Amino acid sequence: MSNYHIKNLEEYFQIYRKSVRDPEGFWEEIAEEHFLWRKRWDRVLSWDFTKPEVKWFEGAQLNITENCIDRHLAIRGNKTAILFEPNDPNEVAQHITYKQLHTQVNKMANVLKGQGIQKGDRVCIYLPMIPELAYAVLACARIGAVHSVVFAGFSSVALATRINDCNAAVVLTADGSFRGNKSIDLKGIVDKALEDCPQVKSVLVAERVGNNIQMVEGRDHFMAPLVQAASAECQVEVMNAEDPLFILYTSGSTGKPKGMVHSCAGYMIYAAYTFKNIFQYQENDVYWCTADIGWITGHSYIVYGPLANGATTVMFEGVPSYPDFGRFWQIVEKHKVNQFYTAPTAIRALAKEKIDFVDQYDLSSLKVLGTVGEPINEEAWHWYNDHIGKKESPIVDTWWQTETGGIMISPIPYSTPTKPTFATLPFIGIQPALMDENGQELQANQVDGRLCIKFPWPSMARTIWGDHDRYRDTYFSAYPKMYFTGDGASRDAVGYYRITGRVDDVIIVSGHNLGTAPIEDAINEHQGVAESAIVGFPHDIKGNALFGYVILKDDALNRDSDSLRTEINSLIADKIGPIAKLDNIAFVPGLPKTRSGKIMRRILRKIAQKDVSNLGDTSTLLNPDVVDQIRKIIGV
Ligand code: WTA
Repeated sequence: MSNYHIKNLEEYFQIYRKSVRDPEGFWEEIAEEHFLWRKRWDRVLSWDFTKPEVKWFEGAQLNITENCIDRHLAIRGNKTAILFEPNDPNEVAQHITYKQLHTQVNKMANVLKGQGIQKGDRVCIYLPMIPELAYAVLACARIGAVHSVVFAGFSSVALATRINDCNAAVVLTADGSFRGNKSIDLKGIVDKALEDCPQVKSVLVAERVGNNIQMVEGRDHFMAPLVQAASAECQVEVMNAEDPLFILYTSGSTGKPKGMVHSCAGYMIYAAYTFKNIFQYQENDVYWCTADIGWITGHSYIVYGPLANGATTVMFEGVPSYPDFGRFWQIVEKHKVNQFYTAPTAIRALAKEKIDFVDQYDLSSLKVLGTVGEPINEEAWHWYNDHIGKKESPIVDTWWQTETGGIMISPIPYSTPTKPTFATLPFIGIQPALMDENGQELQANQVDGRLCIKFPWPSMARTIWGDHDRYRDTYFSAYPKMYFTGDGASRDAVGYYRITGRVDDVIIVSGHNLGTAPIEDAINEHQGVAESAIVGFPHDIKGNALFGYVILKDDALNRDSDSLRTEINSLIADKIGPIAKLDNIAFVPGLPKTRSGKIMRRILRKIAQKDVSNLGDTSTLLNPDVVDQIRKIIGV
C-alpha cells in the first residue's frame, strides 16, 4: 500500500487513521517520498491555535517550481503540461509541454527580475485565462516573489484596493480579455485603478485581443518583446518552507477583502496530494478544471496540484455558453478529458438547456466529475450524474475554502460511496468538528452544527496579509482552539458531512463569495440612499441571488425607481464588479432592528424568499411596524 495513492475505501480508512494518530509521521513520509527539497526540515509541525501560529516543515528549503516543472523534465519533458483551449473554438489549442513551460516560466521570471522584482516583493496579476497567466504565477514562485492574482472580472476600485493592500510594485495585465463574443478592456481598468496606486512602477501588458490601448511612457511595457529578449535560464530562488508563496483575496462579511497568505511547502504538499487522490489522476490522463486562476480553485487545481503531479491540465479561456451551450462537452470530446471539475452554478445553467447540447458529444473519456464552490442541489447532482457521467463516473463534491488551500471534505472516487448533496468524508489528515450554539462539540452522528477543524493541516492559510489580529478574530475566536470555517454542516448516521451553507454574512452567488458589508457600503455611496441591507435568496441557477432593501433620503423619494435601481447597480459594478449586482431592489421606509440597533437579517431573508410563515416574534423590535410595511411593498 502506498500512502500517496489511495485505491479503495479500506485503504482510505487505514491511511486516515494513521494521519490522525500520527500526523507528523504521516506528513513527513509524504513529504520525504514525493517532493524535491533543497534542505531537509528540522521539525515537521509546530502549532498553537491561540496565537494562532502554524508552521510545517520548518527549516526545510525548496522551490515549488522545481517540483512543478524541473523535476518532470527528464521523464516528461515532451508531455503536455498545459493544454490551452482558446475562447474561439476555431482558434487552435496550444499544447504547452513541460519543456516549453520551463522555458516560458524562466523567461517571464527574468523579465520580472528586470523590473527589479526580488524575493518577497508582491506582484499583482490581473490577466485573463491565457497561458501568460500561468507563466506569471509560476515565474513569481520561481524568484520568490509573492503573487496576488486578482480575478479579471473585478472592477478598477476592487483592483486598486487589492494592489494597495499588499503594496504591489508591478502589475501584469493584458490589452483585453475575450468572453464569448465580447471583449473586456482590462488595460483601461488597470489604468483607472493605478490612479490610486502611486507605488506601482511598472505594468507589463500581454497582447491578446488587439485592443487600442494607452501605454503610459516609462511605466507600461509590452510583455512579448521583453520575454523574447529574456534568457531562458533562471535559477530558482531557494525558499524557506514557511515563506509566503502567494496572497489571494477573499471577501469577508465586513470591511475590506482579506488577503489570505499561503506558504510554500505545506501548500504544495497538500495541493499535490489532494489532487492525486481526489481526481485519481493517472499518467496520461487529461484533467480539466473550469475555474479561473483568479480563484483558489484555479491556484490549487489548475496550476500547482496538477503540475506537481506531472499532469496535463486544461486551461480554458472562454465561457460555457459560447458559441453555444455545448462548449464544455465539445472540449471534453475534443481533448478526451478524463477528469472534469466545475461549479454547481455552471451545472444548473447547462441543465436548463436542451439535452442535445450534451448528447451530440462523446463523453466516454470521463472518469471523474467534480464540483466545488457551493452546495450542489439534488436535481443538479442527478443531472450531472445521469447526463454527463452516464451513471458511471463518480461525482466528487469537494468542500473547501480559499483559507484551507486544498480540498478538505470529499469522496475518493471509486472508493467512497457517494450520496447526493453530501461532501461525504474528511480527506486524509483533516479533523472536522461540529459545534453547537453553546460552543460544545457535537460528538454524535445525525447532528447539525457549525463546522470547525480541530487540528492543523499543511495548506492552511497562515495569516491575513498585514492583519494577523483579524486572522485570529475571524477564524480562531468563535471556538477556542479551533479553526472556524464560517459554514454550517450536518453529519448523517454514517458520518458523512453535508455542507448547508454560510452562517455569517457572506453570500455565495454563482460560486463567488460576496460579503454583505462591502456591497452595502457601495450602495450607501449613492447620494439618494440613507441606509441599506443586503440578503441572499435562493435562485435557480446562481444558487443565491442578492436582494437589497434600500431606504431613500427624502429628496430622492420622488425619483423614478427604475433609474435609481440602475444607478445603484452600476455603483456596485464600479466598486466591486458586475458579479455583485442585485437581482432585486426594494425601496423601504425602514429596516427591522433590534433594540441595540442590529439589523434583523433573518426577517429580511424570509421576506426576500417570500416565506413569511415563520417570522418569529417581531414585537421586541425597535420598530415592529416596519415589517408589515416592507411586506406590503414586496407583496408577501
Ligand atoms: C462554499 C472555494 C458546499 C462554502 C474552494 C465555503 C461549498 C466557501 C463547497 C468557500 C461544497 C465550497 N459544498 N459549499 N462542495 N465548496 N463551498 O473561498 O461556503 O471561494 O466556505 O473557496 O464556498 O469559497 P471559496
